[in-house]
Amino acid sequence: TQRVEGRALSRFEKITHRQAMISLYDAFSETDMRDWEKRNRNYLVSLPVQPEYYCELKLDGLAASLRYENGVLRLGATRGDGKTGEDVTANLKTIESIPLSLRVPTKQEIEVLGFSIQQAEKIKEIILHGSLEVRGEAIMTKDVFKMINTKYQAEGKALLANTRNAAAGSLRQLDPQIVAERKLVFYPYDLIFSDYRRSELLATRQQADALAALLGFKKLEHNRLCVTLDEVFALKNNWEKNKEKLPFFIDGLVVKFNDLKLWEQLGIVGKAPRYMMAYKFSAEQATTKVLDVVWQIGRTGALTPTAILEPVALGGVTVARSTLHNFDEIKRLDLRLGDTVIMERAGDVIPKVVSVLKELRTGEEKLITAPKHCPRCQQPIEKDKDEVAFRCVNKNCYAVALRRLIHFASKPAADIEGLGEKIVEQLVSASLLEDAADIYALRKEDLLLLDRFAEKKADNLIQAIAQRKNLELARFLFALGILHIGVESAQTIAQELKRSFTQTEISPLQLHQAAVVISLDQWQSLDDIGPIVAQSLYNFWQDEDTLLLMEKFNRHQLVLMLPATLKNNSLAGKSFVLTGSLSRLTRQEAKDRIKARGGQTRDSVSRQLDYLIVGENPGSKLKEAEKLGIKIISEDEFLKLLSQE
Ligand code: IVH
Repeated sequence: TQRVEGRALSRFEKITHRQAMISLYDAFSETDMRDWEKRNRNYLVSLPVQPEYYCELKLDGLAASLRYENGVLRLGATRGDGKTGEDVTANLKTIESIPLSLRVPTKQEIEVLGFSIQQAEKIKEIILHGSLEVRGEAIMTKDVFKMINTKYQAEGKALLANTRNAAAGSLRQLDPQIVAERKLVFYPYDLIFSDYRRSELLATRQQADALAALLGFKKLEHNRLCVTLDEVFALKNNWEKNKEKLPFFIDGLVVKFNDLKLWEQLGIVGKAPRYMMAYKFSAEQATTKVLDVVWQIGRTGALTPTAILEPVALGGVTVARSTLHNFDEIKRLDLRLGDTVIMERAGDVIPKVVSVLKELRTGEEKLITAPKHCPRCQQPIEKDKDEVAFRCVNKNCYAVALRRLIHFASKPAADIEGLGEKIVEQLVSASLLEDAADIYALRKEDLLLLDRFAEKKADNLIQAIAQRKNLELARFLFALGILHIGVESAQTIAQELKRSFTQTEISPLQLHQAAVVISLDQWQSLDDIGPIVAQSLYNFWQDEDTLLLMEKFNRHQLVLMLPATLKNNSLAGKSFVLTGSLSRLTRQEAKDRIKARGGQTRDSVSRQLDYLIVGENPGSKLKEAEKLGIKIISEDEFLKLLSQE
């Protein structure tokens, strides 16, 4: 209680660090670590053949800096942006493992650590009458975390997300009383004698670690001196396996050159020192900040929000952006710009934002609003009634057009080799392409006028396009980018449309003539086509622009190949329903084989049904079929039907 002073603050003072609180570079593999050593060797030719590494646990908490003047704690600060942090002295004082005044060791105690008599005297002098900065990590142990959350749950309060954010959130509490309840622990990882270079008073990082303990700080007994990188790897592997046994969370090791002279010689590059490296475990979760949300426009005009993140290491990769899927997801997460979020990446799954750490909000976070205008064409955005997506409905929107073209040429669609994203963009900006039909009007002369288009490349592209002038109908239907139509539904539709023709090839206009007369109900009666997809198909074919597009494809002599005629059409026009379980086929196999012979499968019995196939333990369908006088066949009889020529 002595440690809790004063009243709650209304805000924290900003303070400028005397020495910047830099950050660390991350390594995720042995190769990364060896490369690091190699880089250092190149940089410092005099690097010892076998430098010693002091390996410390990388505690997953919050960095704090403590300034002692004449042995007394005067100022405690968070890292902030590295240059300026916040004055959280009152909060840090509530942490029992932070001495309010430094313990004064005897000269003998200091000498035992390998310091010279002169050094020992200097150090004592500084402790008593000088200035010393101790930096380290404030953490919450797993036990305390559990205890607090149990309590919070009982009180109906929002739970703490994890120990790291619990520690961070605690230090940002304006009321020191609350901080005291949170029982944080502090471990030092750096001593800075303000008026001296590190190596003037200390020889090694190991020595510094031991000295901090003499001054009254807690010591991490797990820290180890390693004399080869292989030893470092073994240590890291061991902790990666056994980290659960520790009372607190760690996310890797911090591997530091033990010789502090090397620190001065190697120095800092960019945002972090050369002389130490965070050797990280492969994390599945990490916290980071959402810097921005951008809206990306897809080929159906749908706008997808993407979070731009402060880069963070996750599962062995650095993650800097993450899809938020749609606006509802933003609302569900209650995400705001500037929020700290938990990111997750399980296995090779794409990283996602799992939750927002509202406890860490500063009040400066901004609400995210859905765009009212398309980021590209500035036309108004519409939201479908029963859909979560916002769409740019301007069919001429450049971005949408671009996406559509890229989609049209892509592998599962028209599969035009060499017509990838970059080239499409180039052709669109040169006004050579406006819609997919223009692809078939491209001439070599046009291409040769473009940047980076030599004879060969132009020839290849023209040839690739010519090769696809005879296009399978299903590919074409998919390539058109009709809302909700995927590869499979395109195949179903191609099969259906084929019924309208006797020939094997049709023109785009013939396709239009066949499709435009299909009613909404007819679309919906197709296998695997639901009401939403049916509506989309209907709208597409009724749209006047579709006719114009088909006419254009026609002019450029695109030929559509109907799906291969089924070899055996013995079940054409016959419909089947299955009941009970078959012994020699799965349901899906039975359905596929009926379809392969031109037959149809239905889900329920009706007067129009031709056959009911009855397996083991048939259901109520058998009775219904009997009532309606439908032909009922056994599995054997069905197989016989299938084997007919
Ligand atoms: S030395 C140059 N040693 O990790 C910064 N940092 O990812 C000096 N951390 O901001 C850091 N355990 O808060 C060091 N044994 C350890 C550490 C450690 C945790 C934190 C530290 C730093 C962050 C960088």
